[in-house]
Amino acid sequence: IEKRQTNGDAVMLNQIHKSKKVVLVGDGAVGSSYAFSLIQSQIADELVVVDVAKDHAEGDVIDLEDVMPMAGPMGIRAGEYSDAKDADLVVITAGVPRKPGETRLDLVSKNARILESIVRTIVDSGFNGIFLVSANPVDILTTITQRISGFPRTRVIGTGTSLDSARLQVALANKFQVNLQDIDANILGEHGDSSFAAYDEATIRGRALRTVAMEKNITDDELDQIEVDVRKKGGKIIGLKGATFYGVAYGLTMLTRAILNNENMVVPVSAPLSGEYGLNDIYIGSPALINSRGIAKVIEEPLSADEKAQMIRSARQMAEVLMNA
Ligand code: LAC
Repeated sequence: IEKRQTNGDAVMLNQIHKSKKVVLVGDGAVGSSYAFSLIQSQIADELVVVDVAKDHAEGDVIDLEDVMPMAGPMGIRAGEYSDAKDADLVVITAGVPRKPGETRLDLVSKNARILESIVRTIVDSGFNGIFLVSANPVDILTTITQRISGFPRTRVIGTGTSLDSARLQVALANKFQVNLQDIDANILGEHGDSSFAAYDEATIRGRALRTVAMEKNITDDELDQIEVDVRKKGGKIIGLKGATFYGVAYGLTMLTRAILNNENMVVPVSAPLSGEYGLNDIYIGSPALINSRGIAKVIEEPLSADEKAQMIRSARQMAEVLMNA
């Protein structure tokens, strides 16, 4: 009798604690860096790695297994799109990466085709969770993921300008000689060449960045140069080492944590606009509230007139590329 009761309890516990399952599609430099940081962060119970190069996925899985005795356990295996059936999250990093000199938008036709077949197959598996996209051009590919999947827009998210905003914070912390945590500043718009720094709303230790800049004799030209350098940083990394991956991979981990742990984190992502900034039917970099429902709310940053014009210009460019994608 005692044994039966114990078994009964175990079953009940399993039902209460549904395991948190992530399917990673694309085990290249970004995907494997994400897998490595996910296992270290101990936020998922299960990770299934899917890649067309099955040997690579299998190799990564058994390599990452060795992290577990040190970092903690996580179920990890190589798998198929059909493993998405009962997943909470599908993370898509698959696609052709940029080569030196290429823009993110140059990738659109190739990566849109790859993405379309992935998304269709995953939806056919019965997947009913949240899509998280980082493949480039991320705003376009996130928009396409939502359209093809037919999922509610809350359940499709792109990494957007979370990475660019992190880069801006690094550059500002250096320039202003303050701690990273003291800076609240975002890059908005396309994750790409039409992005812009929302300096007019940015703060340092809670005070307007522009005021602090004046006190420190940091000129508008210097701030503009930081914006340009941040915009070019991905290209610079690619020029030096052929690819960028740690920044975006950790951004994926941060978003995974916000979703799986229902954190209500406000972060700039590729967010689906419906009226914000006067724009509609497009994903573009804007702050949003992320929790277990996905993008629970797009948070419209109260932009200055100049910045709003930049947002609209960036979105127009996205819309044109989308029409030809
Ligand atoms: C970058 C790539 C991920 O900006 O777009 O690093």
